[in-house]
Order: sequence, then C-alpha cells, then structure tokens
Amino acid sequence: MKKMVILTGAGMSAESGISTFRDSGGLWEQHRVEDVATIEGYIRNPQLVIDFYNERRKQLPTVKPCRGHELVAALEKNYDVTVVTQNVDDLHERAGSTNVIHLHGELMKVTSSISPNDPLQIQTLTPEHLEIHMGETAPDGSQLRPFIVWFGEAVPMIEKAAEEAMKADIFVVIGTSLNVYPAAGLVQFVAPEVPVFLIDPKDVPWTSSHRYTHIKKGASAGMEELLEDLGIEN
Ligand code: APR
Repeated sequence: MKKMVILTGAGMSAESGISTFRDSGGLWEQHRVEDVATIEGYIRNPQLVIDFYNERRKQLPTVKPCRGHELVAALEKNYDVTVVTQNVDDLHERAGSTNVIHLHGELMKVTSSISPNDPLQIQTLTPEHLEIHMGETAPDGSQLRPFIVWFGEAVPMIEKAAEEAMKADIFVVIGTSLNVYPAAGLVQFVAPEVPVFLIDPKDVPWTSSHRYTHIKKGASAGMEELLEDLGIEN
C-alpha cells in the first residue's frame, strides 16, 4: 500500500465547531497566548491554565467528527495513512483513524508538572472526569497538568513525524496556517517528487520549495475533492 501522511491543524476541526486559533474570532483573540499556552504562563498562574484546558476539554463530548475527519479515516482502506495532527482534540480517533501522531499533546490526557513526557505520569481522563484541579497530583507527587505541548516546550513527537514524512508517497496538509514550527516545517522532509495537496479555504504562507495543489475549500468539501482527484469512490 502507498503511504499517505496527512498534517492537520485547527481548520480540520472547525466544521466540528471547535474554534481555530488565528481566524477571526479564534482562540487567540479571546485569550493571551502567553497566559494560557506557554510554560511561563503555567508557572506564573497554573490555576488559569488548568481552568482554560478544563473548559476546552468539557467541550469535547459536545462535538463530533466532521465529514472531513471521516474521509481521512476512510482513506485507510486505500493507503497506509499516518495522521500528524497539531490538534489536541480526539476527533481523528473518534472518526476511526488508527495511526495518529499528536505533535502538541492531547486534551484528554494529563501528566506530571515535573516530567510531562514520562509515560508513567500520563493519565487519560474519562467523560465522567473531565476536570483537574489544583492540589491533584501525578504519580510523582507533582501538580497534575494538561498533557499539552506549550510554546517554549520540546515537541517530542516531531522526530517520529519527520520520519513518516520522509516515507510519504502522498502528503496532504489540511487546515493549518503553517505559523507554528516545527510542525510547519514537516513538508521539508517530503521527497521532491511526492505530490503534495493543501486543503484550506484561504491561502497560507508556503515557505517550502515543494510544489503543491491547493484545494481551496473547507476540510470536508476539500477531502471530497481530494478523493475524486485520487480516483477513490466515497
Ligand atoms: N476547513 C479547513 N481549513 C480551515 C477551515 C475549514 N473549515 N476553517 C479555517 N481553516 C484554516 C484557516 O484558513 C487557517 O489556515 O485553518 C487554519 C487554522 O490556522 P490556525 O488557527 O493558526 O491553527 P493551526 O495552524 O492549527 O495552529 C497551529 O498554533 O496556537 C498553536 O498549538 C496551537 O496547534 C496550534 C498551532
């Protein structure tokens, strides 16, 4: 089977009702990034950060995968698919994708404040237990924190994602403004002859020398068009 790597961002979940970050009305218009999405912000005011992710986590059971997520999952019938997502929601998994790399963490997981990437410290929350509070601790005794990669922190999964990109026979980018590195740099690892598709209703800053086909539509309609281009019945 040919290998397809799909890099997704917040636009992938927009049609599920989850706000993007940099569109008008996006999350970064309602919150200061430095307060809720940086390691310094967490150290300065952990309560504010824990509350911010509790609110976003409580939204998850109220939203569901969009047609775009479902079509991404359906591609596993035709390709060896790896989804590399910047999103922290679980919509790719809920749509049926079985190979998802989360570059920026996962909203349904919490971890240690001392060793956030130690597997022994990472716990998955349940729909019955969606909030964490100050004073709740990880196994190592430190304050429980969201399993999210904040600005200023390492992106441990980027090496695995780059290895996948290097093996891609087709590379698809859906719903990301390509503002944030190292995620935005993944296309550099894609071999020059590999076809690249961008699905986004807007133009995005494309700094790579890699040529690409821009399907200027939303995630769901864009995925419909991509499947047609690839000659796949859906
Ligand atoms: N379908 C597809 N794409 C869409 C849709 C849609 N329905 N609606 C908006 N978009 C596109 C926008 O045009 C934009 O290019 O989705 C992109 C969203 O960009 P951002 O809001 O910047 O989100 P993202 O690129 O995922 O941000 C990257 O920044 O704040 C950090 O960690 C956070 O993972 C996030 C990272």
